[in-house]
Amino acid sequence: MKQRDCIGTPLFESSTKILLLGSGELGKEVAIAAQRLGIEVVAVDRYDWAPAMHVAHRRYVVDLMNPEAVKAIVRREKPDAVIPEIEAIAVDALLELEEEGFVIAPNARAVKIAMNRIELRKYASRELGLPTTKYEFAENPEEAVLACEKIGYPCLIKPEMSSSGHGHVKVLEPSRQRVIEAYEYAIKHSRGKSRRVIVEEFVDLEAEFTVLAYRYLDEGEVRVEYCDPIEHWRYGQYHYIESWQPSNRSSNILSQASEIAIRVANGLGGLGILGVEVFLTRDGRILFSEVAPRPHDTGMVTMVTQELSEFDIHVRAVLGLPVPKPRIISPGASLAIYTERENTWSPRICGLSKILATQGVDIRIFGKPSTYSGRRMAVLLARGNSVDEALEKLRRVAKLITITITPPR
Ligand SMILES: Nc1ncnc2c1ncn2[C@@H]1O[C@H](COP(=O)(O)OP(=O)(O)OP(=O)(O)O)[C@@H](O)[C@H]1O
Ligand SMILES: [Mg+2]
Repeated sequence: MKQRDCIGTPLFESSTKILLLGSGELGKEVAIAAQRLGIEVVAVDRYDWAPAMHVAHRRYVVDLMNPEAVKAIVRREKPDAVIPEIEAIAVDALLELEEEGFVIAPNARAVKIAMNRIELRKYASRELGLPTTKYEFAENPEEAVLACEKIGYPCLIKPEMSSSGHGHVKVLEPSRQRVIEAYEYAIKHSRGKSRRVIVEEFVDLEAEFTVLAYRYLDEGEVRVEYCDPIEHWRYGQYHYIESWQPSNRSSNILSQASEIAIRVANGLGGLGILGVEVFLTRDGRILFSEVAPRPHDTGMVTMVTQELSEFDIHVRAVLGLPVPKPRIISPGASLAIYTERENTWSPRICGLSKILATQGVDIRIFGKPSTYSGRRMAVLLARGNSVDEALEKLRRVAKLITITITPPR
């Protein structure tokens, strides 16, 4: 990608175009950020009317794990940048497209490494030399038993490929039977046909951070920058529930976390933002956990806290536009709203008359056409004089939200 100076007219000859592979809530915000800059947006996902499709110029509904489908769409559309928004994409198609000269954000190799826990752990620990939890790999039940013995208990077994905590099992104590069951469970919930798992030491968490680091072009030179660390808490769940910025942890801790993120961004290369997940353990260790080479769900808070959100940053960076480090404009927080409703269509998000009456509170409703248990449907955002005040507002109003199904006419 070269330094960009101009943006053309969407849908016309001079158009500057992005293509989203994955069209969820993060893709929707990328699309909105792009639309504001006058960029043509194409959204692709496996189901129709995924969130980003509501704000795109065009959409395609295909299986993103099908390499032929991905290549056919990219070759037809010829976007200025392809933006992978989810992990489950036929990554070999991305490598091939990159060879042909297409720009993949941040690059196909980064996407390939980050989607695979084993490759990513080897890369972070052995090549970048970053501190991580203790880990072992296993590819059959016997190896899993040995790996757990080496790591000690409690430990966590995770499939080589999966997202949102799918197939993670915590093993509490030495039990051959339990480890074998955990291994089989992890494999069953793995994406693809892999039989490999990672066994990680289960650490006691004091805090979790996402550090958004990004690489962009300025006067033709690649520069790297990071946003002030976002702290988040999951209440023991695998998915994120609350995030906030800025964090009030010591500057020493925050600068170590940021340093890890910069090293990952520079190691993976390319242009764009990535969300580096970092643990602070109760015994004071600061550990790299994993990276998403794209905007991060916990980073939705930046829509209310920063001059430029993580979505604005990503769009600018991948298109070769400059992105000076955004200042924090207010302390703020986010709280994700999940539904427990199984297989309902056309849900309504209710309670807004009270929720939106609170000063500083806002909501993003994703517009997902159907629900399943555990599906994220919206995010509450708040600014406050302090992070505590923003969080307090969100926790209060979150109780008022309900997700209902359309009553029969
Ligand atoms: N080794 C560990 N020790 C303690 N807690 C852990 C460990 N690994 C993961 N966790 C917890 O589980 C959460 C999810 O883990 P991880 O990020 O590896 O999974 P994921 O499938 O990539 O989920 P997501 O897509 O939400 O990031 C972490 O944010 C953390 O709260
Ligand atoms: Mg994670």
